[in-house]
Amino acid sequence: VGKSTKIFILKSRPSGDVSADNFELIEEDLPGVKEGEIKVKTRYLSVDPYMRNRMNNVESYVSPFELESAINGNGIAEVVETKSDQFSIRDLVVGNLPWQEYSIIDSKRVEKILTDEAISSTAYLSVLGLTGLTAFFGLLDIGEPKSGETVVISAAAGAVGSIVGQIARIKGCKVIGITGGEKKCDYLKNDLLFDEAIDYKKTPNIRKELRKICPQKVDIYFDNVGGDISDGVLYMLNNKARIVLCGQISLYNLNRLSMGPRLFPQFLIRRVKMQGFIVYDYANQFLEARDQIKQWLLDGAIKYNENIIEGFENLPTAFLGLFTGGNIGKQLVKV
Ligand SMILES: NC(=O)c1ccc[n+]([C@@H]2O[C@H](COP(=O)([O-])OP(=O)(O)OC[C@H]3O[C@@H](n4cnc5c(N)ncnc54)[C@H](OP(=O)(O)O)[C@@H]3O)[C@@H](O)[C@H]2O)c1
Repeated sequence: VGKSTKIFILKSRPSGDVSADNFELIEEDLPGVKEGEIKVKTRYLSVDPYMRNRMNNVESYVSPFELESAINGNGIAEVVETKSDQFSIRDLVVGNLPWQEYSIIDSKRVEKILTDEAISSTAYLSVLGLTGLTAFFGLLDIGEPKSGETVVISAAAGAVGSIVGQIARIKGCKVIGITGGEKKCDYLKNDLLFDEAIDYKKTPNIRKELRKICPQKVDIYFDNVGGDISDGVLYMLNNKARIVLCGQISLYNLNRLSMGPRLFPQFLIRRVKMQGFIVYDYANQFLEARDQIKQWLLDGAIKYNENIIEGFENLPTAFLGLFTGGNIGKQLVKV
């Protein structure tokens, strides 16, 4: 079993909207396992918006994917052969994995998951993984929420957004989520207990809607989306508001960014602080943060959802769905 493997490679770089044609499924033989390596069978792969940027040939905080090579991203795999004294057969590992059904990896590149009956292993790709940590550090370190403040979150029903809102609630804030569609708004209000949810597909004038539901204005804007949605929020900021610049997904498929009317005078008169961040900036605090998030989960203070699509061959579909809002919570693929 697993002498050869299915692999998704980057076939071409997208120009504008990413499409299924940019990926190709191939099959290749695997080499033998060398000293210090493990052979793993992939169980789950995470699809994430930042991967769209890696499909472009531009330098960033992570290097671009190479053409004709396997796509890679976070995943969970099971050890099926080992030449490392750190891992035994059937161990579950998490880390950066190629988009392959089987792969041979340097054992130092992954971390063992200590399975815990109360929490499923997939949580290490969602709420206890990088997206949960992004929510945690972005909101708490950059947003600095205080009880009674108002927090607005874009892409609020997604992996990061849904956790941000719940941490903001724990901190005693009023929480308003912006998302696409009635089902997602109901999820935010009824399941995650957000105070308000705005459906930007039905209510494109975000500024007007915020003026109605939030006369006290906005103290923290956690931005996952950018573009027109953010423009609407930025006109509604309070004095000393903080903008947590987490993502700009509405712009990732654009070849050229527009240079529209600038909102900086708003920032100036309102003494606004805006800061971008990358979750890895906080790598040396991941363990403590994960313990805190785990405690909130066990106490029932936060919930999480995973949108799991089955089948290795559905990886591109799952990825494309991020750009059309197919997911509530973290989008994963079960291999
Ligand atoms: N800074 C960091 O270290 C870091 C780490 C992780 C993620 N991020 C960023 O955080 C954001 C969220 O990531 P995630 O993993 O949690 O993904 P996600 O929110 O689970 O999925 C993306 C969501 O974005 C929304 N969306 C897509 N295109 C849109 C558009 N044109 N306009 C408005 N909304 C759009 C969709 O929800 P709707 O149905 O609501 O439209 C979609 O479900 C991304 O921008 C990502 O790049 C940053």
